Amino acid sequence: MFRKILYPTDFSDRSKKATAYMKQLKDAGTEEVVLLHVVDTRKLHIPEVYAMLDLSVLGDKQASDAATEAGHIAGILNDLGIRTKIRIEKGVPFKEILKVESEEDVSLIIIGSHGSSNVEEMLLGSVSEKVIRKAKGPVLVVR
Ligand SMILES: Nc1ncnc2c1ncn2[C@@H]1O[C@H](COP(=O)(O)OP(=O)(O)OP(=O)(O)O)[C@@H](O)[C@H]1O
Ligand SMILES: [Mg+2]
Repeated sequence: MFRKILYPTDFSDRSKKATAYMKQLKDAGTEEVVLLHVVDTRKLHIPEVYAMLDLSVLGDKQASDAATEAGHIAGILNDLGIRTKIRIEKGVPFKEILKVESEEDVSLIIIGSHGSSNVEEMLLGSVSEKVIRKAKGPVLVVR
């Protein structure tokens, strides 16, 4: 039923909780996970000396750090027998998540209720809220 899953993560403890459900999802037929991290280009600090540089290099350090971290999680999922594809994108997180949902034609998104900001007073984080409202398919929210 949920053959291919999109798992967007900001690498917060909260979002990593989702991996605990992957084993059960595998038993329920999941074969492939697309592990996605979005480097939030709105949050990049741009020192003035770099203002003349090619904008595409901005966030490259964050992107390569993210690839390393994503590799660790992919290793865990692969050990569970779930094929894992890593995607690192740059942009606005909820927009990239929705774009990848379409591109990869996934059957489920598994997302944390909160992330690195961890403001408990909010029912949902801003990224998870927008994804739940705008996703084409079902979303599993991990508290
Ligand atoms: N940059 C990102 N790339 C991929 N997934 C993300 C990203 N940011 C958040 N997510 C996903 O969305 C979930 C909820 O995070 P969200 O950012 O909405 O909450 P928050 O950080 O607590 O609050 P906010 O960012 O609104 O201040 C995370 O657990 C993660 O699954
Ligand atoms: Mg956040």
